[in-house]
Amino acid sequence: MPSLTSLLNDRFALALELSFGEDFTRRDPVIRSSQFADFQANVALPLAKELKSKPRDIATTIVDNLDLADICEPPEISGPGFINLTFTSEFLASTLNQGGVVEAESEASGQRIVIDYSAPNVAKEMHVGHLRTTVVGDALARTHEFFGNTVVRQNHIGDWGTPFGMLIEHLLDVGIESETAQDISANPNAFYQAARAKFDSDEAFATRARARVVALQGGDEQTLELWERLVGFSRIYFNHIYSLLDVTLTDDNLAGESIYNDDLAAVCQDLEDQGLARISDGALCVFPEGFTGRDGDPLPLIIRKSDGGYGYATTDLAAVRHRVRTLNADRVLYVVGTPQAMHFEMVFAIARAAGWLPEGVEFEHVKIGNVLGDDGKILRTRSGAPLRLAELLEEAVARAKTTLQESNAEFDAEEEAVVAKAVGIGAVKYADLSVAHDTSYTFDLDRMLAPIGNTAPYLQYAGARIRSILRKADGDAFTTAPIHLGEPAERDLGLALLGLSDVIAEVVAGSTPHRLATYLFDLAQSFTSFYEQCPVLIAESAEMRDSRLRLSQTVLEVLEAGLGVLGIRVPERM
Ligand code: ARG
Repeated sequence: MPSLTSLLNDRFALALELSFGEDFTRRDPVIRSSQFADFQANVALPLAKELKSKPRDIATTIVDNLDLADICEPPEISGPGFINLTFTSEFLASTLNQGGVVEAESEASGQRIVIDYSAPNVAKEMHVGHLRTTVVGDALARTHEFFGNTVVRQNHIGDWGTPFGMLIEHLLDVGIESETAQDISANPNAFYQAARAKFDSDEAFATRARARVVALQGGDEQTLELWERLVGFSRIYFNHIYSLLDVTLTDDNLAGESIYNDDLAAVCQDLEDQGLARISDGALCVFPEGFTGRDGDPLPLIIRKSDGGYGYATTDLAAVRHRVRTLNADRVLYVVGTPQAMHFEMVFAIARAAGWLPEGVEFEHVKIGNVLGDDGKILRTRSGAPLRLAELLEEAVARAKTTLQESNAEFDAEEEAVVAKAVGIGAVKYADLSVAHDTSYTFDLDRMLAPIGNTAPYLQYAGARIRSILRKADGDAFTTAPIHLGEPAERDLGLALLGLSDVIAEVVAGSTPHRLATYLFDLAQSFTSFYEQCPVLIAESAEMRDSRLRLSQTVLEVLEAGLGVLGIRVPERM
């Protein structure tokens, strides 16, 4: 379905051309939603400056050449020269009647988007930071697919580097088949900490661990096998979390640091050959332009340590090349915590300087803010240990279940489990997605699970209520009945429904899933007002009843599609 704003954009293109000549055809008419009309076009203000004329006169000229008679009321000029635009109810209704409200593809669709997200570390617990990169990344992946882009998911797990020496030696010490080893899949931190403690206190172990790193990086077969086992145990753990979270990541999306091992020397060589890298204090460094430390000295990105080892930065440089050359990305999103902003700025700057970023390929760090506890600090357990993500999610589901049991809905055990999961996990995900990704928020299960307010349960309940209305409609003749938008509440709802494709395009352009959340919340509120003001099942006439049923059904479709894009399910009943 064409979006309402692109329709207006097309009409304005013609009017601008007729008014000021061909050079102005492609001028952005600056169409925004408006308090006083459905939309307003603000283009007259910047044009007036440029053409040295009064904004109101410019607006008048545009309106004189604007042909909107088939879709809008006559446009009005307000204030200094805003053009207020209000669609006719007939046009809104006929657009709804054509169907296709949940289609969001446009001329801009069809890009290849590589999304780097989740990216936990092997033999370590996922923390709330990973929760958020996983949830936001997954929502962006789904949004791009809904928009008609091709998404390549890259789970850049931390599966390589010096800690693997001690982890492998510890694995050998405890025995690969031992319970301690298996326990990595359930409780990864314990294993990591035991290895770490031994490394710090036992010199002989530390020596073995160091030798093991060398063997690993040298490709020693037996060492690689042991490493595989470790990664395998962690994979079980990650997949458990992913299935709890209901995200789309699979083993096929694993693209950990290790896959770049063979490219690291070449990356360094290339940067040296181009004169971009040089030895400083024994380490090979790049000093990208424009980056200075507190003392004003150029800031290095170390790409090869003095002991010859490569690190996180080199891996990311190799990943840039892989994403451009092999994955053929048009755009790459890195959904990673804000503290890594500088790292990515430097990596992108170096890649650009080295000529690895072709014109037109976009690299973007989608910065993820912190999840805080009641005390305003990064969320931890009472004892101060990092929070166990699985426990947190299980608690959300358990609380959702308790609430369901207290409500009067009668579920069998199976349905109760399904609904509790949809609500509990949906609530946690929605809390993540309904705030701008780069701001922090407080993790508060009570608020997330509240049935009113901007929460998943509120939206899910709106969906479940519509389902229940439609079930009572006996028959589905209404699904093809024409929609009329007679009452103001009906018109508001109709207009809101037609906004989905615009908001999807906005999320795609700006990586802002919270805009979709806001849209869905507003839509659910419009539905609530409509339902309060317009009887549906007991409407005055059969025609009106069918129109309202179909309108309600369209709300359900949009809610389901929108929440689906955010990775949240709408239960059959609640
Ligand atoms: N594993 C890293 C961490 O836990 C995140 C990796 C993000 N992606 C990347 N390409 N560097 O902080």
